[in-house]
Amino acid sequence: MNILLLGGGGREHALAWKLAQSRLLADGGRLFAAPGNPGIAQHAELVILDVTDHAAITAFCAAEAVGLVVVGPEAPLVNGLADTLRDAGVPVFGPSKAAAQLEGSKGFTKDLCARHTIPTAGYVRVESVADALAALDRFAAPFVLKADGLAAGKGVVIAETRADAEAAIPDMLADEGAALVIEEFMHGEEASLFAITDGTTILTFGSAQDHKRVGDGDTGPNTGGMGAYSPARVLTAELEAEAMERILRPTVAAMAAEGMPYSGVLYAGLMLTDEGPKLVEYNCRFGDPECQVLMPRLQGDLGEYLLASALGRLADLPPPAFAPDPALTVVLAANGYPATPEKGGPIGGIDTAEATGALVFHAGTAIDGEGRLVAAGGRVLNVTASGPDVRHAQMTAYRAVDAIDFPTGFCRRDIGWREVAREG
Ligand code: AMP
Ligand code: GLY
Repeated sequence: MNILLLGGGGREHALAWKLAQSRLLADGGRLFAAPGNPGIAQHAELVILDVTDHAAITAFCAAEAVGLVVVGPEAPLVNGLADTLRDAGVPVFGPSKAAAQLEGSKGFTKDLCARHTIPTAGYVRVESVADALAALDRFAAPFVLKADGLAAGKGVVIAETRADAEAAIPDMLADEGAALVIEEFMHGEEASLFAITDGTTILTFGSAQDHKRVGDGDTGPNTGGMGAYSPARVLTAELEAEAMERILRPTVAAMAAEGMPYSGVLYAGLMLTDEGPKLVEYNCRFGDPECQVLMPRLQGDLGEYLLASALGRLADLPPPAFAPDPALTVVLAANGYPATPEKGGPIGGIDTAEATGALVFHAGTAIDGEGRLVAAGGRVLNVTASGPDVRHAQMTAYRAVDAIDFPTGFCRRDIGWREVAREG
């Protein structure tokens, strides 16, 4: 069968690399990607398609007999691309517009959790500055303020003092129709748990821990993620089962019961508190860079799982197996990321890096007019390695990082520190 993968980041390179090994493509099936990137081009035929042009994507699927569309990023899902494709009879991996509200609207998710007693931080949703200031009385510092809409991880302010919270509120409510969620601060360690579902059956699909801050020692501004490893061993089998039973499974059941069945990947950001796992947020896509450590560990056929989710046939498949060895990925970013990443810097040495046993997934890369590989985004490469423990995966990954010649880029040197410290 032919498959179309949408997206062009490190997450989609990891998906393309794994999809290229799928039995679904065995009988001469073609893997297309739009917009893709130079790394994805090693596994897929890149096509020019505007992901906001739903009619063009539907027409492409009809013309090329596409049997599965895999949507990488959240924006097309929140905009209803999966609905358009389903209406046209094209199987699609990813939730409907209504179901994608789990990521698209923090208020929607908090209200759903409240209706179905799914453990998460206590909250209020307000629309005026006066209501927001009054609501602060109900919480203690630090104050958690979240813009209610898609904000690519940038819509959260954690204010250490009440004065900082009061100062941040007017700005967060400045736009017409803006709403704010104010939450109780949860103490604990964070972990990401992934599951895939067809709306009824739900299968765990691995765990990971991210490094959100730009600098070593978890300092500096938040980013999309500077590195990750899988599994998150802090999420023990017991805690994972508890999170599935109390958070993810009830969410999928609630969405179905409320007439918005959720299919695709459900990515739960969890806080492991003294009272057990609580939901921080949901995303309706794979994590980036978490996907780059899940795919190398996945032993099953990714295409078969994604197609079964799209067709409502996940009950036919066994739970996916993951290699026990941990995987770790280091993000190489362009200087200036996250604020003002420098574009156009040349990149070399990827073959040498891969010869050390690592996988190099492309994110923001491009081929310039002279045929050179250059930086074209904030996060540029993901250097991924496995090992018998995180310490060895980390050593292999950094050996490969050091083989890469990217003078206008940087990376954190401490990815995996928490787990390495635990390994002793
Ligand atoms: P979110 O965009 O909701 O994932 O929030 C971004 C980050 O803010 C999370 O990954 C947490 O590190 C932190 N955070 C969000 N909500 C809370 C909360 N209620 N308590 C503590 N930390 C939080
Ligand atoms: N790495 C965090 C995310 O994908 O949201």
